[in-house]
Amino acid sequence: MHTEQPATPVHAPERRTTGRATAVAHPNIALIKYWGKRDEDLVLPRVDSLSMTLDIFPTTTGVRVAPEAEHDAVTLGGRPAEGDALRRVVDFLDLVRERAGIAHRAVVESENTVPTGAGLASSASGFAALAAAAAAAYGLDLDATDLSRLARRGSGSASRSVFGGFALWHAGPESASAAEADLSSYAEPVPTGELDPALVIAVVNAGPKAVSSRAAMRRTVDTSPLYEPWAVSSGQDLTEMRAALLAGDIEAVGEIAERNALGMHATMLAARPAVRYLSPATLTVLDSVLQLRRDGIAAYATMDAGPNVKVLCRRTDTDRVAQAVRAAVTDGSVLVAGPGPGARLLHGDGR
Ligand code: DP6
Repeated sequence: MHTEQPATPVHAPERRTTGRATAVAHPNIALIKYWGKRDEDLVLPRVDSLSMTLDIFPTTTGVRVAPEAEHDAVTLGGRPAEGDALRRVVDFLDLVRERAGIAHRAVVESENTVPTGAGLASSASGFAALAAAAAAAYGLDLDATDLSRLARRGSGSASRSVFGGFALWHAGPESASAAEADLSSYAEPVPTGELDPALVIAVVNAGPKAVSSRAAMRRTVDTSPLYEPWAVSSGQDLTEMRAALLAGDIEAVGEIAERNALGMHATMLAARPAVRYLSPATLTVLDSVLQLRRDGIAAYATMDAGPNVKVLCRRTDTDRVAQAVRAAVTDGSVLVAGPGPGARLLHGDGR
C-alpha cells in the first residue's frame, strides 16, 4: 500500500496519539521452533525460539481510531474479517485500548502478501504490523521490547517479526505473577558472524491448513509423549544455534535448524490424534535437499505448520538450490528470500 513512502524505525518516539498510523512488517521463519504454550492467554511459550525475518511477503496495516464507531471494522485484503480472524484482532485491540485508556473502536485495514494460513507465518507479519500501527494510533509510547511483548499477545511468532535479521524470543522463566511473566517474554536481535543466508521457499500448497497451529500445538503438548523430550533437546539446539550463528557457520546453522524442525513434526505425528502437516510433495522436496547435500551444496530444510518447505542455503547458492527445488515441485511455486527488516511505521497518512 504505502511501501514507497519513507519509513522510520518503529521505536521512534510516538509521544502523542495520532489517531491513525500505518505500519509494515515481514514474516519470519523459525530455525529453532516455537511449539507449545505454557499460558494460552498471555501467549507464553514453553521453549525459546529463534528466527530469520524475511525480505518478502510484507503485511501493511492501517489503524484509525474511530470515536464515531460502535464496533471495530476490520478488513483483511479488502474483505471484511469475520469469525476467528475478527475475534483475534478485536481481542488484540482491546488490549491496546486497555493500556491506552481509550475506549474508542477502530478501523483496521490490512493487506497481506503472504498466502494466508499456509504455514508461511502470515500471523507473524500480521500481528507485528497491527501491534505497531495500533500502538501508534492509540498513542502508546513503546520501545521495541515493549512492542515485541505486545505483538506476542496477538500471535507468538509476531514477537520476533518486530526485529529484522535474526531474532530470539525468550520464553521467560516460570514467574510468580502474570505481570512478571508477561515482562519476561519478548524477542531481541541475535548477533551473528559473517553469514550471507537465503531461504528458498517451496510453496507446494498455498491453501489454508486443516488444523491451526494454535490448536495443533495445544494437542501436541496435551497428548504427545514426544513433546517433553523435544522441548528439552530444543534448548540444547538453541545454545548450539547461537554459537553457530556467531561463528557464521551455515552448515551448523542448517543442520541444527533441520533437526529441530523434524523433531517438532515428530512430536505432532505422535500426538493423539496425530497432526500431520507434511505431504508427499513435502517429502519430495526433502529428498531434493538431501541430494543437494550429496552434491556438496549446503542446503537444509525447515517446515512449519504446513506442507511448504523453506531451504536454508548460502545466498550465492540460491540459483542452484532453487533449480533443484523447482524440479521437485511439480505443482506450486518457488521463491527466494533473504534477511529482511523489522516492523516500522510509515509516514504520510494524515499526520
Ligand atoms: C510452527 O505464532 O502462529 O510456525 O501463538 O498460537 O498464534 P500462535 O502460534 P503461531 O505459531 C507458529 C508456530 C511455527 C513455529 C515458529 O514460528 O516458531
